[in-house]
Amino acid sequence: MKMLVTGAAGFIGSNLCRELLKQENLVIGIDSFEDYYPKYIKEKNISDIINHPRFKLIEKNITDPDLNLYKLLLEIDVIFHLAGQGGVRASWGKEFEVYLRNNIHATQILLELSKRANIKKFIYASSSSVYGDTKDFPLNELKSFTRPVSPYGVSKLAAENLCYLYYKNFNLPTISMRYFTVYGEGQRPDMAFHKFIKNTLEDLPIEIYGNGTQVRDFTYIKDIVEASILMINAPSGKIYNIGGGNKCTLEHAIDIIEQLINKKIIRNYSNFEKGDVFETQADLTLIKSELGFNPKYTIEEGLNNEIKYIKDLYSL
Ligand SMILES: NC(=O)c1ccc[n+]([C@@H]2O[C@H](COP(=O)([O-])OP(=O)(O)OC[C@H]3O[C@@H](n4cnc5c(N)ncnc54)[C@H](O)[C@@H]3O)[C@@H](O)[C@H]2O)c1
Repeated sequence: MKMLVTGAAGFIGSNLCRELLKQENLVIGIDSFEDYYPKYIKEKNISDIINHPRFKLIEKNITDPDLNLYKLLLEIDVIFHLAGQGGVRASWGKEFEVYLRNNIHATQILLELSKRANIKKFIYASSSSVYGDTKDFPLNELKSFTRPVSPYGVSKLAAENLCYLYYKNFNLPTISMRYFTVYGEGQRPDMAFHKFIKNTLEDLPIEIYGNGTQVRDFTYIKDIVEASILMINAPSGKIYNIGGGNKCTLEHAIDIIEQLINKKIIRNYSNFEKGDVFETQADLTLIKSELGFNPKYTIEEGLNNEIKYIKDLYSL
């Protein structure tokens, strides 16, 4: 099949492209190489696929009128729409403009053009951040409240709602996936595990927002990729949680990193950041029962692979 992956040079997008190519698909990637983190990291993400005969990368922003997106979409079977501005903490204040453009407007442009093309599935990467801060666990796609507590979460929920309304009004076969804290090879440098591992390897202290008791459903990148590809055959108009079943406290994850690197981690604590939720835990009933997805990787395996990746990235 012919796939379009937006955000193809990013953390999740590059891993997804690699697997789609392995499965014999033609893959067109779009990425604007936003400067949220260094370009060389994104170039490295795709260095092993950039010259693949079935891969083509277009370096443009989806909102760029020069892109000629409609013509491109006429050849596409499935869209994986992963392009977006991540980061809860960076989404306050003036920076929200970037979230409006890259998370909401870019999605609306892609949906609007897709409705006139012959797209078989439009798969959108939403986030657990749409749920907000709650004590009602596990978080369920239909029963749990969506009340984000960060501007980032608001932008992801808005785009998710846009996907649904193009399904409802125009029969565009959209699906939204709610990813829960993704980690592993290629993880963004602003994300906690990446910073913790890098600092520890460099004998620097780490900074923990809050007291480390916050809980996350950490999801390993290979599980995320597998579940994302399953969405091609999922019923349209639906939303699926994708979690790793690795619910643990931040402090516990740091203990594991400490053991795997075999170095004492110097832990500094600061205030909880505004926009961060205290806990996430995905209800995986829907994706397990309807699509047969079961996360395979333990947090130890996943972190071990991320440590190898970070050693290689920074030559540590
Ligand atoms: N990493 C996670 O834990 C996580 C969790 C939930 C949801 N998500 C979502 O998954 C997607 C991928 O996240 P990631 O961690 O790989 O982030 P990333 O920043 O590594 O990748 C996103 C890529 O999209 C590109 N991009 C952004 N806006 C664009 C636009 N308008 N046009 C073209 N390219 C654009 C960026 O340059 C970047 O390379 C995002 O939509 C994010 O919101 C990620």
